[in-house]
Amino acid sequence: EQGNPQRASEKINELFSTLPKGKGWWAEHLFHYQGFWLSNRALEGLLLIQDNFKPQPSDIFLANTPKSGSTWLKALLFSIVNLSRYDFSSHPLLNTPPRDIFPFLDFYFQQNKPISDIESLPSPRLFSSHLPYNLFPKSITASGCRFVSIWRDPKDVFVSQWHFMKKLRSKELPAVSMEEAFDLFCKGVSHYGPLWDHMSGYWKASLESPEKILMLKYEDMKREPLVQVKRLAEFLGQPFSIEEENKGVVQEIINLCSFDSLRNLQVNKTRDGPSNEGRPVKNPDFFRKGEVGDWKNHLVAEMAEYIDQIIKDRLCGGGLAS
Ligand code: A3P
Repeated sequence: EQGNPQRASEKINELFSTLPKGKGWWAEHLFHYQGFWLSNRALEGLLLIQDNFKPQPSDIFLANTPKSGSTWLKALLFSIVNLSRYDFSSHPLLNTPPRDIFPFLDFYFQQNKPISDIESLPSPRLFSSHLPYNLFPKSITASGCRFVSIWRDPKDVFVSQWHFMKKLRSKELPAVSMEEAFDLFCKGVSHYGPLWDHMSGYWKASLESPEKILMLKYEDMKREPLVQVKRLAEFLGQPFSIEEENKGVVQEIINLCSFDSLRNLQVNKTRDGPSNEGRPVKNPDFFRKGEVGDWKNHLVAEMAEYIDQIIKDRLCGGGLAS
């Protein structure tokens, strides 16, 4: 059995006429659907998920806004969950780009792959998504599965999205200047935005169900990877044993998944090769700088303050973030 893209596009076409439209960054348009801005592809993907995805209670979703650290977290999640399956010397991440190490659910059903492919994945199945928590079908959020979400300084997310857009946006579309992108971002018009509503959806859910939803911060992961990776493993129900810790396993995982190690692997360095075929963004495009605070090289003080103020008003006002 396959997903039914035709049915979804019929539903989408009906929706298109009713939804408010905004300017897309890498797609031409974004559509305002239940409080969030989605590309037509993401919206179609969501409808296909609603129709076709059968959750299993052991499923684990990595869900965050684009450019917050999914590549890193994908590598970490896969390494932790499969610790007993693979050796570090012949690890799948050495020749598989993190983006392909487990399925990106949002576009999965548009690829016409058999559903049995994901139904037969070893348990716990891992999926990544950019969908906001509130848009996940209830069948998934109520099934008992776990969510890991990563936050990043919104100023760095903006800068990272801006660079990514330059790679991904069709050359047939007019370029978007940084000023225009900034304006859109601050109005909430970004892929899967508004960013702050995306953040607060996962944050609130994690406060309500800390055993089901874990929030990590990119900056914390950079500062104290050992602490955060152990926290992640505990949350996943796979805490490291004393022997593993003594053997340096946690550090090995951190090293394998580090920016420099992944970026320098041949599979992530080359723009050609099977894992890049037919894809507008290539494996190296997922490794740019990998730093905290690169926004300082791109935003003037007023822009930075403006974003900070929005986040303060939207999140701290609700008592969510400090
Ligand atoms: P920059 O553009 O600031 O460099 P995503 O993986 O969600 O698409 O986010 C991409 C961002 O994460 C990029 O940020 C990228 O360089 C950074 N990144 C990729 N792999 C990383 C890793 N292993 N460790 C830290 N950052 C990483």
